Amino acid sequence: MDLTYRPRRLRSSHSIREIVRETTLEPRHLLYPMFIEEGEGVKTPVAAMPGIHRYSIDLAIEHAREAWNLGIKGVALFPAIPNGLKDKYGSESHNPEGLFARTIRAFKKELPELLLITDVALDPYSSDGHDGIVSEAGEILNDETVEVLIKMALTQAAAGADIVAPSDMMDGRIGALRAALDEAGFERVMIMSYSTKYASAYYGPFRTALDSAPKMGDKKTYQMNPASGYREALRESSLDEAEGADFLMVKPALAYLDVLRVVRDNTQLPVVAYNVSGEYAMVKAAAQAGYIDEQRIVLETLTSMRRAGADAILTYHALDVARWLKS
Ligand code: PBG
Repeated sequence: MDLTYRPRRLRSSHSIREIVRETTLEPRHLLYPMFIEEGEGVKTPVAAMPGIHRYSIDLAIEHAREAWNLGIKGVALFPAIPNGLKDKYGSESHNPEGLFARTIRAFKKELPELLLITDVALDPYSSDGHDGIVSEAGEILNDETVEVLIKMALTQAAAGADIVAPSDMMDGRIGALRAALDEAGFERVMIMSYSTKYASAYYGPFRTALDSAPKMGDKKTYQMNPASGYREALRESSLDEAEGADFLMVKPALAYLDVLRVVRDNTQLPVVAYNVSGEYAMVKAAAQAGYIDEQRIVLETLTSMRRAGADAILTYHALDVARWLKS
């Protein structure tokens, strides 16, 4: 054949492929979500998430040190709160001596450089299992919830959080949190907004880990409809950007790479993808059954999230990936 263009030339060796590759995946791109529970020396496996545990503070710090030594710069912390401490208003969420505040202080003391991303939402503390306060009529009360989110974020900031991360999807919470943090002298604290968060079945294993599933109804009046992308994602993202978010997020990741691309192309802010618990569970189950090559699948999936526009990826695979990338 008399071909002018032979694209295969640029794929003909490992060296040339490395030179022309468009995307990289490095440990610095990974953020590691961790579940914390009360106690000492406790390490409880999470159902449906092989390799993932809930740790008491002491063991959580040891595990996070491993992540740090592998080049991971930040962890996202989620506390498992005993049922006896849950109530309608999520009061335990702003207890300065509660599990979460103690966790944050201990992490900052032992691993001062590791960035702490702290979850701001009612669900781990709510007896209703919702991210907001539920009214008598069963409605999620937006503005009343934001008042609690403010107390929660201030408690986390005072304990040493670097980045507060509202995952609740209430309207107006980014502006309210920014104003409250600044007013209290926490200008240094960043806000990572779960700005584009879908009402997704992919959160199943996470809710088991924290025993935080809704007791009634679902989260569709606050989390987004998976059937909507371009317009609703841009609306949520631009509002949060205008209200003062430092990071935007798209969650889940794999089924929403089109949304990730749209958000990336329409903001100057860094965009984070959350490779959520159900995505992790599917890969682990298929790998354990011997149906797929776990390492290749995970590296391909996370590289695709980077290609679609993620600056960073929250992923339960973070430590494995950092180890694979080293070898
Ligand atoms: C709730 C929250 C959820 C996740 C992070 N924060 C679940 C939910 O919205 O019900 C899910 C993360 C995952 O599945 O890995 N505020």
